[in-house]
Amino acid sequence: MMNEPMQRAAQVVTVSPGTLGARILDLADRLATHSEMTGGLTCTYLSPAHRAVAKDLQELMQKAGLEAAIDAVGNITGRYRSATPGAKALIVGSHYDTVVNAGRYDGRLGILTALAIAEHLHKAGQALPFHLDVIAFAEEEGVRFSAPYIGSSAIAGRFDQGLLQRRDTGGMSLADALREVGSKPEDIAALARRPQDLLGYLEVHIEQGPVLLNGNLPAGVVTAIAGCARHQVIVEGSAGHAGTVPMALRRDAAAAAAEIVLALERRCSAEPGLVGTVGKLAVPGGAINVIPARCELTLDIRAGEDSVRAAAERDVLAEIARIAARRGVTADVLELSRTPATSCAPRLQALMAQALARAGVEPLHLPSGAGHDAVMFSGVTEMGMLFVRCGNGGISHDPREIVTADDADIGARVLLDIILSLARP
Ligand code: GLV
Ligand code: MN
Ligand code: MN
Repeated sequence: MMNEPMQRAAQVVTVSPGTLGARILDLADRLATHSEMTGGLTCTYLSPAHRAVAKDLQELMQKAGLEAAIDAVGNITGRYRSATPGAKALIVGSHYDTVVNAGRYDGRLGILTALAIAEHLHKAGQALPFHLDVIAFAEEEGVRFSAPYIGSSAIAGRFDQGLLQRRDTGGMSLADALREVGSKPEDIAALARRPQDLLGYLEVHIEQGPVLLNGNLPAGVVTAIAGCARHQVIVEGSAGHAGTVPMALRRDAAAAAAEIVLALERRCSAEPGLVGTVGKLAVPGGAINVIPARCELTLDIRAGEDSVRAAAERDVLAEIARIAARRGVTADVLELSRTPATSCAPRLQALMAQALARAGVEPLHLPSGAGHDAVMFSGVTEMGMLFVRCGNGGISHDPREIVTADDADIGARVLLDIILSLARP
């Protein structure tokens, strides 16, 4: 717990260049030691590695002077409490789950930036007129239950209770996975924050693309986040001997899936700002000498404009039906998730641009093609995002993802400046 009487009222806190960036990168290395795989980082929702990271983050937050707890959905919430009566909360967060064989900064950079700032404010005894809520969201990637934003949707009051019955590939429901780690799914609804208690939501995130890198800029202001629709497609044909069934008589599920992959690629290449990906493609129980009877694949379609994405989705689904009919297979399409395109609050964009300029960085504005926890807060409170440069050609969702300590430091100092701007009367 913070020592309230020691806090200073005025915004006098300063930070020496370099200190926050080095701390953030050290902590990212520390969190990356908890993994489900050897020789790489995989940390999926509610796995032992995920729970180890949660415990580590809770302890780090407590040592940083925050009131920290792990909530019913697995978020770690840390409050740097304000003594101001009726204070609202400024949430600053991101996620700690990862994709399979991930980089160590996606999501975690934002949590650790907020944590390093809170730690610094605590050491300096700096008072704020609002609570600073550092939140490490438990699940954003959608890897285990094909449902993104499980952690942030709970805090934003958008958790879909129907998801509790959704099963992972091992057949375990989300409700049972939560119970297995001692959580009570029935407590999730109460995690929702009331909009009137919130001052806003801020997220720092690695850009995960090359725009800042190519522009020679360490950080930039996010304008909007692309919308995304995800589907699972199950193609069923019929099995047969790979050596005996003539080509013209086959109902090969994998060949149909291959056509679907190319149809998605063709349609999504037709317009700028539209992207489509088949990230999972499997022949369950397949064998080298058996014609595939079943093929499972996923579609991920995104665009900055919802109408563009919706039109592409319609066309791709119609094309899937045509491919299936022509090949004599069935193709069942199941919607997994859908998130509309989201704009960042103009006021927060302006504050970020001013803070970047004060840090000597030309304020570039750029959209995000990736999804972020921030989208859950749009319409609930003012939401803003700051991108930090991604090294290595902008590669992310891959172990080659990098951020430099200098860039992490600039991101942290800009975020601190924004927080202090919001604290000024
Ligand atoms: C999250 O990383 C996403 O955009 O898929
Ligand atoms: Mn990600
Ligand atoms: Mn992320």
